[in-house]
Amino acid sequence: MCGIVGYIGREQAAPILLEGLSRLEYRGYDSAGVAVFDSQTEALAVHKAKGRLQVLSERLHGGADLDSTVGVGHTRWATHGAPSDANSHPQVSHSGKIAVVHNGIIENYAELKAFLMEQGVPFTSETDTEVVAQLIEYFYQGDLLQAVGRVLRRIQGAYALGILCADCPDQLVAVRKDSPLILGLGEDCTFIASDVTAILRHTRRVYYMEDGELAVLTREGIQCFNHLMQPIEKEVAAVDWEIDAAEKGGYEHFMFKEIMEQPEALRRCLSPRIRDGEIVLEDFPPDFLRDISRICIVACGSSYHVGMVGKYHLERLTRIPVETSLGSEFRYMDPIVDQHTLVIVISQSGETLDTMAALREARRLGGRILSIVNVVGSSIARESDQVLYTWAGPEIAVATTKAYTTQLALLSLLALKLARARGTLSDSEYHASLDAFQALPDKMEQILSRRDDIQYFASQYFNHNSIFFIGRNLDYALGLEGSLKLKEISYIHSEAYASGELKHGTISLIEDGTLVVALSTYEKLFAKAMSNVVEVKSRGASVLALTTERRREEMARIADAVMTIPDIHDLLLPCLGVVPLQLFAYYVALMRGCDIDKPRNLAKSVTVE
Ligand code: AGP
Repeated sequence: MCGIVGYIGREQAAPILLEGLSRLEYRGYDSAGVAVFDSQTEALAVHKAKGRLQVLSERLHGGADLDSTVGVGHTRWATHGAPSDANSHPQVSHSGKIAVVHNGIIENYAELKAFLMEQGVPFTSETDTEVVAQLIEYFYQGDLLQAVGRVLRRIQGAYALGILCADCPDQLVAVRKDSPLILGLGEDCTFIASDVTAILRHTRRVYYMEDGELAVLTREGIQCFNHLMQPIEKEVAAVDWEIDAAEKGGYEHFMFKEIMEQPEALRRCLSPRIRDGEIVLEDFPPDFLRDISRICIVACGSSYHVGMVGKYHLERLTRIPVETSLGSEFRYMDPIVDQHTLVIVISQSGETLDTMAALREARRLGGRILSIVNVVGSSIARESDQVLYTWAGPEIAVATTKAYTTQLALLSLLALKLARARGTLSDSEYHASLDAFQALPDKMEQILSRRDDIQYFASQYFNHNSIFFIGRNLDYALGLEGSLKLKEISYIHSEAYASGELKHGTISLIEDGTLVVALSTYEKLFAKAMSNVVEVKSRGASVLALTTERRREEMARIADAVMTIPDIHDLLLPCLGVVPLQLFAYYVALMRGCDIDKPRNLAKSVTVE
């Protein structure tokens, strides 16, 4: 996610901003910038650069070049508009008077941008944030807070904002809705920050802003307001974290932080794409999804497992034949691709070489390339015909979690949209499916709130040296991901098997005490799943089952232990089902003393063949 820092006080602002931004680098970013008020010119001085923060800091000699005691700074994780100097923040209004730094997504930026352009407002970037700066100036008539209040009544989406105006350099304005923002109270100075890491060197006294709140910061203090612009009193919180703990938001590992961030990541991924009961994907050319005779899904690792789930959904909903291929295999299998083939390329990093090579082979053969990617402006995104960004925010842990679930949600949404366009889906099923998407983040939060149950199961099984994951259809695809998560961070050997396939050989490995994780969330095949549990139990296996709430009691009669997920539409079962498996892998690895965020032999982005 993006990082925000703001300062107003008696010291030079730029070095404080740059140091604060360096504390936010762990959040992942692709460009950085600062804006300060220059009392000589009585105007804003804005400096920003694509790439590492070091590039900007060296250009500004650590901030010594900027003589000012007030400013805002930003590290950008691109969502709208590829990484570039122009798309970096602070974004500035056309007169140069107002500078804005933003974390989040303005969902209705396109219509607001069109309105402002009709009023003759010139734009210089592709970002949604620039619309905020231009709109503040549009409403500004001498009272910055009042102008900001008018803007907030018109923008939709998630935003944490830091705002500086050249007309009133003795104040900063902060706004918070859905994206976190805190305010720091120092001696004759005040701060804005995305999280405490950025300002912990200066103060441990903070206000945690709530959704809808605004604040005016001066050297003397901070006045907060509610969404009705009424002044409110807030309680000062004392931060007792040490700096390195704060970088993980107080969590012990990035992986756990990213598991816990999944509901928020799903909201960021889905809410801009489901509007008034319709699915609104990026503005694809009208014929891009027409006349498709087959679909090839190409990916590696967990992204491949997303494709396995997508195959089930796409074929059932659209009746288009779907083939899933490993990126490392695709180009050597003489693939059948032509101009009527939709090739869906899935990659969190957007840099996986095997997947990129497959993309280039598919393009050579004439396929239509649609990629589902997390890193905006990454190589795979740039070489695709169309891109769907997951907007999950940077994923630091090597073992993917929030990127996997947002990829899954996005691919399921695409399947729904394709089916709707092809008329292979009833209105009632379409709307029931959309309702399920809306309920998904809250249901995921229910699972996360019961994570101690999973921790208990991990404590019972972390000493096993071989663990099977079995399931059918969607549960088989889910098992592949559960098994990989466990292997890559706990180093326990594990296999995922189609339950029906066990009796064709592998069941010979089941003996007394073998741990089998039996996945049985897919209602249509629950009876089959039960019989497979009996099958392995009769050969001495211990069974840890995963099923839905409605099937808990029935499964508890035969399994040794049962994990459950809330009931949800089939389309989203793997999105929910993977969370207990992520937590199980995490807690097992924790109990085995493994290096969870940086597992041995692995890299976050595999850019070699
Ligand atoms: C997932 O936890 C692993 N880190 C790995 O399998 C990963 O999914 C694979 O390397 C593909 O990466 P990508 O999604 O960035 O292309």
